[in-house]
Amino acid sequence: AEALADAAGRGVPVVLDKPAPGVRSAVFFPLSLKGELLGMLEARRAGEAEPFGEADVRHCSILGAQVAQAVLNARLYADVQERMREVQRIQDQLVHAEKLSAVGRLAAGVAHEINNPLTAIMGFADLLRREDGMGEAQKTDLGRIVDESRRCKRIIQDLMRFSRPAPSVKAPVDAAAVAGAALELFRFELRRADVTVVRELPDGLPPVLGDASKLEQVFLNLVVNARDAMAAKGGGTLTVRAEAVGANVRLSVIDDGPGIAPEDLGRVFEPFFTTKPVGLGTGLGLSVSFGIVREHGGVIKVDSIPGRGCAFVVDLPVALVDAKESAA
Ligand SMILES: Nc1ncnc2c1ncn2[C@@H]1O[C@H](COP(=O)(O)OP(=O)(O)OP(=O)(O)O)[C@@H](O)[C@H]1O
Ligand SMILES: [Mg+2]
Repeated sequence: AEALADAAGRGVPVVLDKPAPGVRSAVFFPLSLKGELLGMLEARRAGEAEPFGEADVRHCSILGAQVAQAVLNARLYADVQERMREVQRIQDQLVHAEKLSAVGRLAAGVAHEINNPLTAIMGFADLLRREDGMGEAQKTDLGRIVDESRRCKRIIQDLMRFSRPAPSVKAPVDAAAVAGAALELFRFELRRADVTVVRELPDGLPPVLGDASKLEQVFLNLVVNARDAMAAKGGGTLTVRAEAVGANVRLSVIDDGPGIAPEDLGRVFEPFFTTKPVGLGTGLGLSVSFGIVREHGGVIKVDSIPGRGCAFVVDLPVALVDAKESAA
């Protein structure tokens, strides 16, 4: 052990004579590179062989340097691979964001054009409906036109919000409280769908800097999706959790519905991606939510086990308290 420490400390090989029974000679040599000690190697000669000589020690030094270089190369390689993965991940994100904004711009243009004629359709149908001499059946039909037009308008508003998010009014927000209030609003709906809610929304989490009504929209989108997913098996359990994780507040919406098919998992945040029947889903809920969360400097992710359920996780950065403000 002493010899080892000596060899390590001075960074030079040490030769030992008969260090152990049956060992004629041993040489310990450090694997060091640019002053960093990576490890030690030991070579032994047994039996009646010659003890290690000066030439052997020189060879060991060379070998040691080469092994150290190999270790360093392996490290560099691992490092490069790690970085390549990181670059790939960022690129995927960029491509995704670009795709969203291209579709968004197109959609916003179309939405804008449709909005005005739709307002006229709705207005005139509504007027007609109120006119004297309309039969009940006609009134019903006109009412349907009004309702469906209203639905179209809602979709269009979603679209416009998605592509050109209204400037947010950001203030410190308690994300758990927002989720709690939204759940309250939706309580009846959930009960009707036989959804049991597990509420893990503690008080006193650090605030996030955000727009409460937009965050509520994100949360409701996730809850509605979870309810829809569980409807297939006539209800289920919805877990809603808020917690502080590192510099974020994490909001999780977890259901035990059918989950998402692996081939769909990469597409759920795309605008217009839906597996719901025409008229039931537009496929905008998650892409709108994606945009809102991104605008808040956060991240939204999904995890799913087919047949077991789905977890949507939203990480929002904790609001930095202004030093001046807190002093005041
Ligand atoms: N909790 C969930 N469980 C299973 N699948 C889900 C869940 N949430 C979303 N999905 C899948 O992702 C798709 C896209 O969701 P998104 O909210 O964007 O659109 P949508 O719910 O279909 O329509 P919209 O929200 O516009 O009414 C859904 O159609 C569904 O296939
Ligand atoms: Mg939805």
